[in-house]
Amino acid sequence: MSDRGHSEAPGIARQMQIGLIGAGNMARALARGWGRPVLCADPVAERARALAAETGGEALARNADVAARAELVVLCHKPAQLEEVSIEIAPHADAVASILAGVTLQELRAVYPERPVYRFMPSLPVEVRQGAVVAAADGPQKPAVDRAVHELFAELGALVTLEESLLDVATGLMSCAPAYVALIAEAQVDAGVRRGIPAAQGAELVTQTLAGTAELLRRRDFDTLAVRREVASPGGVTARGLDALERGGVRAAFSAALDAVLGDRRR
Ligand SMILES: NC(=O)c1ccc[n+]([C@@H]2O[C@H](COP(=O)([O-])OP(=O)(O)OC[C@H]3O[C@@H](n4cnc5c(N)ncnc54)[C@H](OP(=O)(O)O)[C@@H]3O)[C@@H](O)[C@H]2O)c1
Repeated sequence: MSDRGHSEAPGIARQMQIGLIGAGNMARALARGWGRPVLCADPVAERARALAAETGGEALARNADVAARAELVVLCHKPAQLEEVSIEIAPHADAVASILAGVTLQELRAVYPERPVYRFMPSLPVEVRQGAVVAAADGPQKPAVDRAVHELFAELGALVTLEESLLDVATGLMSCAPAYVALIAEAQVDAGVRRGIPAAQGAELVTQTLAGTAELLRRRDFDTLAVRREVASPGGVTARGLDALERGGVRAAFSAALDAVLGDRRR
């Protein structure tokens, strides 16, 4: 580990040098959301170069070089690469934040001992700072660094702290959900196309309605029934549409999707 110190100054997150290990989909979404120069490395050098160029940062040849220069290393590789990456970078990393699905704080501490480690679960909309990010609850480590790292992830949208035992469930709700929502949007547009609406206009209508409904739910403190009652007048067309969705098994489908995500960890 380097002996680089962390300032106690407020707003430290703004200056914190971020190093991304892996420059794939989620690294790109995080970097775009943070909107500041990042250091990064990836087995595909061109991928790292493109991400560095987009953020005004720097692509480095080795993971170890990123860790040596970053104040916070963010693990954006696949969970299966935890051990091989840690062998390269543990001697250099000051503080480590992981977004690796299913990798526990205990497993992280085993390979990154004696420094602050953090476990976060992001979702793809962090790219537009509208993501949900879950932080695994943990005791204090280095208070100034703890604060800075949480501030950093809070920039990306809503940061929600949960007991670590619930992180896999949360992953099934929010990390997978952009794909679910995209599927729902596609299904709705296709239904419209079947009845004559051009796909482009259908997509505009459906996407804007998703975004606006999310904002309405937020303003109504997530009172989903209130929103449904405002739209569905007794005996009206929306009530009939909702009934068809219920009979189509929409709730059961989401419940089954979460079970499928959790697999053996299902309770
Ligand atoms: N995608 C999501 O929505 C999402 C949400 C929450 C959490 N996550 C977590 O985010 C992590 C990345 O997921 P992703 O979807 O971004 O995957 P991805 O697009 O495949 O990105 C992973 C990147 O890491 C690179 N990599 C492989 N071995 C490496 C090594 N030894 N050192 C450095 N980089 C290495 C990969 O290169 P190669 O392709 O050449 O192997 C790839 O560019 C995963 O751990 C996942 O659990 C993802």
